[in-house]
Amino acid sequence: MAEIRIRNTNERIKGEQAVGEFLAQFDVIYEHWDPSKLREGLREKFTLTDEEKQEILDTFDAEIRDLAGRRGYRTWDIITLSEATPNLEELLAKFENVHTHTEDEVRAITAGKGIFIIKGNDEVGYFDVELEAGDVISVPEYTPHFFTLMDNKQIVAVRLFIETEGWIAHPHNDPTFVK
Ligand SMILES: [Fe+2]
Repeated sequence: MAEIRIRNTNERIKGEQAVGEFLAQFDVIYEHWDPSKLREGLREKFTLTDEEKQEILDTFDAEIRDLAGRRGYRTWDIITLSEATPNLEELLAKFENVHTHTEDEVRAITAGKGIFIIKGNDEVGYFDVELEAGDVISVPEYTPHFFTLMDNKQIVAVRLFIETEGWIAHPHNDPTFVK
């Protein structure tokens, strides 16, 4: 289950309902899929063949189509990051910049862990959403955020898009953000 850490106060929010309510005030969608639907051999596997990626998409086909039907996503794929990813550190350094998109950024974690750092409002500031397998999140369009991995540096996630061009990152220069 996802957990939230508010950066300014170090306050943590736990539990599906409390996390969902906190995120809803910023229009961040938070849902949960059953990660145990995935066959055991794929739950801790971070280097995937095209067939294995397709198997993950097939496993969660009903969940993906339900979300896509409600939210208008038209394409989806699998992204995987781990120590086996070439230039992982360079990639992460590139990711770790606050930015926005013209469409929402949706990720459904199927293995591993990751963090979205999201700007709530001026009062709350930035908060971390720590995600694990089964967590589904949508960061609204134009909301400043970035994504990074947790200490284990391993993740597999489904990405869903309305238009893939909508997902281009626009840098958001924010003097209030402190790493
Ligand atoms: Fe993004």
